[in-house]
Amino acid sequence: MSSPTTPLECKPVPESVPPVAPCTLVIFGGSGDLARRRLIPAVYNLLLDGLLPADYAVIGLGRKPMTDDEFCSLVREGVVTHSRQALVPATWEAFQSHLFYIQGENDNPQTYQALRTKAEQVERDMRLSGNRIFYLSIPPSSFSSVCQGLAQSGLATAPAAGSPYSRIIVEKPVGRDLASAREINEVTGKVFEESQIFRIDHYLGKETVQNLMVVRFANSIFEPIWNHKYIDHVQITVSESEGVGTRATYYEEAGALRDMIQNHLLQLLCLVAMEPPYSLDPDVVRNAKMEVLRCLRPIVGRDVAQYTVRAQYAEGVAHGQAVPGYRREKGVNPNSITESYVAVKAFVENWRWAGVPFYLRTGKALPKRASEVAVQFKDIPQILFNANPAQPQPANVLTLRIQPDEGLSLRIISRVPGTRAQTHPVEMDFQYSDVFGCPSPEAYERLLLDVMAGDASRFMRRDAVEASWAWVTNILDGWAQQKLRWLPEYPAGTWGPVEAERMIQNDGRSWRIL
Ligand code: BG6
Repeated sequence: MSSPTTPLECKPVPESVPPVAPCTLVIFGGSGDLARRRLIPAVYNLLLDGLLPADYAVIGLGRKPMTDDEFCSLVREGVVTHSRQALVPATWEAFQSHLFYIQGENDNPQTYQALRTKAEQVERDMRLSGNRIFYLSIPPSSFSSVCQGLAQSGLATAPAAGSPYSRIIVEKPVGRDLASAREINEVTGKVFEESQIFRIDHYLGKETVQNLMVVRFANSIFEPIWNHKYIDHVQITVSESEGVGTRATYYEEAGALRDMIQNHLLQLLCLVAMEPPYSLDPDVVRNAKMEVLRCLRPIVGRDVAQYTVRAQYAEGVAHGQAVPGYRREKGVNPNSITESYVAVKAFVENWRWAGVPFYLRTGKALPKRASEVAVQFKDIPQILFNANPAQPQPANVLTLRIQPDEGLSLRIISRVPGTRAQTHPVEMDFQYSDVFGCPSPEAYERLLLDVMAGDASRFMRRDAVEASWAWVTNILDGWAQQKLRWLPEYPAGTWGPVEAERMIQNDGRSWRIL
């Protein structure tokens, strides 16, 4: 696909320019990794792009004692290392005068009195109207104390017309199964109304993930063939090259199914499978996605062994470096049966998708970092150019590359120039970097801006979180019944265990090589 030679004409989409009022962002877990690597750099990039309101403040709250200045130096290092755009000294000077820090324990009521005093003082000094966003970048075990503290101190208020808003952002994991997810939803729901709660799935903020709806519903050619009559199957892959790294404590309790499938991959599946929403209103879009989750065929009983594969990476070599096996990683139980890889065959049981498998797979220590959605169309009949059963034509595949190398390609069959009647598959390819010069904003930039604007379309609604946990919990229960003492293994730096190959090969299909 050739890049346009004239400057791009960008059509504004109604939802993309939200008005943003002055506000204070309070980050619980303010001295933590997420704040340093993703959240503060995201706010800083919004400032560089002129998207922040003129008046704003960021208050980090954490256990570490620190002054405002020490907090600024800590997050400055995070911006230098992780920001999408380079630090501009003059803008940084201005930015750091909006950054504050307060030390406190989440379960101590005095923390909230101190936070209230600090927030009110900052709001007075900076002429802020009292709009507050509370970001819970902390373990779910603290959510209850924080919500109570916010309510009792009067920091969180119910929505009222003409009054400043209070909103809460809940970082994953929202639970580890259906029961704990419900508990978290109860706890947050006691203090905040659903319209005030923003449950983050950062995949929904990725440019290429947002583009899934545009590709499907802003083009006339896809929708008529987007169903079981034309589509053979869908593969959704989120492959990571890194191992568990420094996150063993969290990961041991989670594993790939909870960490990635329950949220990121199921959300991608929803965007691929949903019916066209009649508007971009957040609840209309979320209703359409919710319908997909409702139609997911539960995987229970014997189906668990047939439709799911879990595995752990064994010692191997990934991007030229020796990687120890998962069970030998620092902080991992040597007898762990936590999966670092999972593959699932899912079905969406409605008219559109009857009989079409959705193969999901994700894993750590795979050959490369690459995420994509591949929609494989049905084979053509065995006549004309497909008459030789020994050499079947490859099927058409529409691939939406989520990251890196963001783009989209369509595999079609073409004639090879020459006198012999030969055909060859070719790719029509569109790359973001060729067409839209500038790098896409990071997911957290988009999502923080959405919260400031009160737009919940890219956030998980309570019913969706619980529906996806219900589906995942069936699989977890099935796994628990298997009482395995060891999981299948795959050498680090390879594409997963033979069991996953077998699962898809039994259907006469194969995993895509990314
Ligand atoms: C997080 C998971 O939600 O997503 C991590 O907890 C994973 O384990 C990460 O590495 C992947 O995100 P991204 O944006 O790098 O694909």
